Amino acid sequence: MNIEFIEMGNVSETQTVALNRLRAVVYPPEVLATLPGISFSWASAQWSVFVWDQDDLIARVGLVVREIVDNGVAKKIGGIGGVMTHPNRQGQGLASLAMREASRHFIEDLDGSYALLFCRLHLVEFYKRLNWKSFHGQVFVEQPQGKIEFSANGAMVLDVKEEAPVQGVLDLNGLPW
Ligand SMILES: CC(C)(COP(=O)(O)OP(=O)(O)OC[C@H]1O[C@@H](n2cnc3c(N)ncnc32)[C@H](O)[C@@H]1OP(=O)(O)O)[C@@H](O)C(=O)NCCC(=O)NCCS
Repeated sequence: MNIEFIEMGNVSETQTVALNRLRAVVYPPEVLATLPGISFSWASAQWSVFVWDQDDLIARVGLVVREIVDNGVAKKIGGIGGVMTHPNRQGQGLASLAMREASRHFIEDLDGSYALLFCRLHLVEFYKRLNWKSFHGQVFVEQPQGKIEFSANGAMVLDVKEEAPVQGVLDLNGLPW
């Protein structure tokens, strides 16, 4: 097994094909149609943690860094999105491994105060086991029609350089991730 951290601007054709293939098998159209986030526009990841088994991409976590407004104060934070494991390889700790690797990058080289992700209710316990905590305040994001409060999925936060807020008002200053 091989773990790779890549900047999405430098992603190769092989990596792009593998990611599209993983996305297609994790999110076939009938699954996609059931997701609460389907009608929203999402930001692309700037980096990815890829977990490979030889030539097969078996898990992936996407990362972003964004300057947001946290209770009126500009703050650079990390974001996680696009967490997925190939259906044949789920329950083997692969997403947990990739999430820990992503956290390490937030701490060591991505310089965010804390990190934030959105997830559906059934995954809250999964992320809690990885030290994320539920955010109970309001999160505003941009959409093509303008700024909206984002409540389709719950938000969770992770302490990085400082303690992440669990309430208050966050404006992500852009699309959700
Ligand atoms: C969520 C997901 C990334 C977990 O990947 P994984 O490699 O299986 O995760 P791990 O093996 O590290 O951890 C598994 C744990 O996640 C939790 N979990 C995973 N999928 C779950 C689900 N559908 N419902 C409830 N809990 C789930 C379980 O608590 C499980 O714990 P267990 O091993 O004690 O049973 C994977 O199920 C997936 O790709 N799901 C579809 C895409 C998705 O929903 N991504 C998350 C977007 S926020």
